[in-house]
Amino acid sequence: MVSPEAVPYAKTGGLADVAGTLPFELAKLGHEVRLIIPKYGCIDDSEHPFQQVAELPVPTVAGPIQAIIEQGPVSSFPGKTAGRMSIFAIRHDLFFARAGLYQEQGRDYPDNLDRFSFFCRGVLALLTHFASAEQWRPDILHLHDWQTALCAVYLKTLYARQPEFTGLQTILTLHNVGYQGQFPKSEFEKTGLPADVFTPAGLEFYGSVNLLKGGILFADMLTTVSPTYSREIQTPDFGFGLEGVLAQRKDRLVGIVNGIDTGVWDPSTDPFLPRTYSASDLTGKRVCKQELQREMKLPVKEAPVLGIVSRLVNQKGLDLVVDILPELMEVDLQLIILGSGERRYEQEFSSFQNRYPKKVALRLGFDEGLAHRIQAGSDMLLIPSRYEPCGLTQLHGLRYGTIPIVRKTGGLADTVVPFSPGSTRNRRANGFRFTDMSSESLLSVILLALSVHKHKNEWDHLIQTGMRTDVSWGPSVQHYIRVYDGLCKTHPVPSPS
Ligand code: ADP
Ligand code: GLC
Repeated sequence: MVSPEAVPYAKTGGLADVAGTLPFELAKLGHEVRLIIPKYGCIDDSEHPFQQVAELPVPTVAGPIQAIIEQGPVSSFPGKTAGRMSIFAIRHDLFFARAGLYQEQGRDYPDNLDRFSFFCRGVLALLTHFASAEQWRPDILHLHDWQTALCAVYLKTLYARQPEFTGLQTILTLHNVGYQGQFPKSEFEKTGLPADVFTPAGLEFYGSVNLLKGGILFADMLTTVSPTYSREIQTPDFGFGLEGVLAQRKDRLVGIVNGIDTGVWDPSTDPFLPRTYSASDLTGKRVCKQELQREMKLPVKEAPVLGIVSRLVNQKGLDLVVDILPELMEVDLQLIILGSGERRYEQEFSSFQNRYPKKVALRLGFDEGLAHRIQAGSDMLLIPSRYEPCGLTQLHGLRYGTIPIVRKTGGLADTVVPFSPGSTRNRRANGFRFTDMSSESLLSVILLALSVHKHKNEWDHLIQTGMRTDVSWGPSVQHYIRVYDGLCKTHPVPSPS
């Protein structure tokens, strides 16, 4: 499993949650999984003592660069039995010991192509090392997002004849087609790939280098993180220009919904909460709400609390929330926002906080504990995404009895069963949904949710259904295993001679 981020080491979004959890879920079922990440500066050695296990030369266009291979402590994953799971990090401080993962202050690092070409070639050097030092050869190389996509390309080109990779099958999981790893054509040579790969049938994309496109074309199998998103990305509205390439490979593309780590996200044991609770006794949730109001310096009162935990970027549709803030401020409610990202959202929300300090509370930055407390202490969670490959926060909301209000797209459409007034099917409803990407539609679904919230029985029913919804990895991990099995059957792994 190769990922550019994984909890608890380095995280910018949901990919880190997936990459830090899925390997354990597989290991629990007896699979042997090695997770490989870059060794970033943000990884605190005193908290996670990695140990050097090898030093390997990694070929680059500038000549070989030494990568230090470190093995991480599985004890970093509290409550997890390691089983057959281990974690390795590729260290080269010049590339990775920086304040950010991919960017700082909104600007991508100018050498990202050098960094992630090096990482991918480092991964292949490490696999060669595993094969020679331990005779350990994986059946599957599971890649995540553009930062790892070059592994699939290298295996089919520069490394095609290396015997240790014979039979190795690659899967690329697309967590977000909006991020593709695009670079100017002049940088292509940094990949070290032969020039004939820079064509429309390869990594060339309207004159630029596109790493995700390379991965889509060269990986043996593609997955994405919900069935709806797997269909959406084959259309111009969601494919960000890659819809044609994705449609071309649709027979190799499946959508598998993410789960969440139900050990970390468990309101009955969550150490971040002032009081724990469960579906059978929600007293603690009321305490969490009052304590959240105190923490966010809002009046402690019964008014419905709407929470937002999000990256503040165009994808998340928070401009719709900004548009309807004047109307929302007329209603008896409180809005609590935790997020980080683009300045324009930060400015809009903070100006409303200044004008309505009793109704709007904003916390900028990344705060894991507060994310948990907002999930526990809010009544509803707003997720008006323009597009959402899967989304994890609505799953956290369901688990914490916090009703998600979502746009019908991607994984939000696949995981939230909408309430509709007067419908008998509301027995299965666990949230609210709107379809049109318009502020009117968002406002009317919020008003609907607020009106249902007044009816305690109906609201309790939503909470109970939400908390009973299976948001674990259970079914999805089985789906991944079927995909792995399918690949191994099509290309039987040769037995070691
Ligand atoms: P995405 O990966 O697109 O950001 P997801 O919903 O899949 O969206 O995952 C977001 C993850 O990041 C969740 O675990 C959420 O709790 C967390 N998160 C987002 N913003 C913050 C923040 N400001 N502070 C703490 N956690 C955050
Ligand atoms: C991406 C997507 C998000 C998804 C996450 C994990 O960041 O934006 O929808 O849940 O990856 O797959």
